[in-house]
Amino acid sequence: MTLTPDAPAPPTAVVLEATGLTKHFPVRRSLRDIFKRTHEAVHAVDDVHLTLRRGQVVALVGESGSGKSTVARLLAQLYPRTDGDIQLHGESSRVKGGRQFRAYAKKVQMIFQDPFASLNPVHTIRYHLTRALKIHGNAGGNAQELEQALTELLNRVSLTPPERYLDKFPHELSGGQRQRVAIARALGANPEALLADEPVSMLDVSIRLGVLNLLRDLKERLNLAILYITHDIASARYFADETLVMYAGRMVEGGDSETVTQNPAHPYTRLLIDSAPDPDRIANMTADTADRGDGEPPSLIHPPTGCRFHPRCPVAMPRCSTDLPVRLEINDKPGHWAACWLYDTEPEAAK
Ligand SMILES: Nc1ncnc2c1ncn2[C@@H]1O[C@H](COP(=O)(O)OP(=O)(O)OP(=O)(O)O)[C@@H](O)[C@H]1O
Ligand SMILES: [Mg+2]
Repeated sequence: MTLTPDAPAPPTAVVLEATGLTKHFPVRRSLRDIFKRTHEAVHAVDDVHLTLRRGQVVALVGESGSGKSTVARLLAQLYPRTDGDIQLHGESSRVKGGRQFRAYAKKVQMIFQDPFASLNPVHTIRYHLTRALKIHGNAGGNAQELEQALTELLNRVSLTPPERYLDKFPHELSGGQRQRVAIARALGANPEALLADEPVSMLDVSIRLGVLNLLRDLKERLNLAILYITHDIASARYFADETLVMYAGRMVEGGDSETVTQNPAHPYTRLLIDSAPDPDRIANMTADTADRGDGEPPSLIHPPTGCRFHPRCPVAMPRCSTDLPVRLEINDKPGHWAACWLYDTEPEAAK
């Protein structure tokens, strides 16, 4: 098996693109709702646009419940979408059956947060990797080629010497090693895009960097497109080329990671950065500043009108509660935008 992509492509080639991606989960209805004919839904993801390119990492950051995992699952086509489009190499894709799903999963693989839950405890590492190689037609024509492909996969994720790991069970490995096995299994498909849903958040702090460095190395060597989902905006700066910020199911800011993390434009991104623990800042906090921006994430069944962040926003204006903000250019760096009326430079009279 060869793990290099089939057709060499320029590093910025678009692999996967989502436009207007939307997912509403219907709320289970009580008898009373049926009589009232209400159709309530959780607005988990609304109108999300994102582009994954070869050899680039895009970070998707936001607090718990903002819809990050739902975006990843929609991109992996694990759920049907309510609206919007997903294009793989410029072709619209809506997977229905098993065979279509397998062909799609050969190109787009997912890595989950909890490597222990994603590996079957009764099977060895050899079993997990062999299965992935066979399903995606990368197991070679005989036992020797299979063995070589297994060795190559474990080498790729720095589990060496491979023979020390192949016949182990998941519980015999550390958390970091298990996540490396989960990454190796994803690589068994020889994919072009990896969707990593909080791949290091369950790992010990001391080994997180090692796994992120491995992903970065794979991105460079295999020219992979990676979506990196995280709560931790600081790791996005370290690891991702581009950062997108999500709040309550909607994208609120995007741009290159350095600009978004060092010069955040949206009040929510600023809140996210300010709420990362920083001992110096905590020591200088007064009771007044410690409370700023506090508040609960909104209900996604009845999301706030206008900008979903307006009830928590320290600089909200009257129009923020009525008008849905559009993406507005922040003229500091090309490609930096925020969905916030603060950046609307058009005079009111012109509208
Ligand atoms: N299968 C489902 N049915 C109904 N609601 C769902 C379902 N999956 C997710 N949700 C809801 O959609 C919203 C977004 O969930 P999601 O898991 O995508 O958030 P997240 O940003 O990944 O959060 P976390 O950081 O905690 O993982 C939440 O309000 C969640 O309760
Ligand atoms: Mg999640």
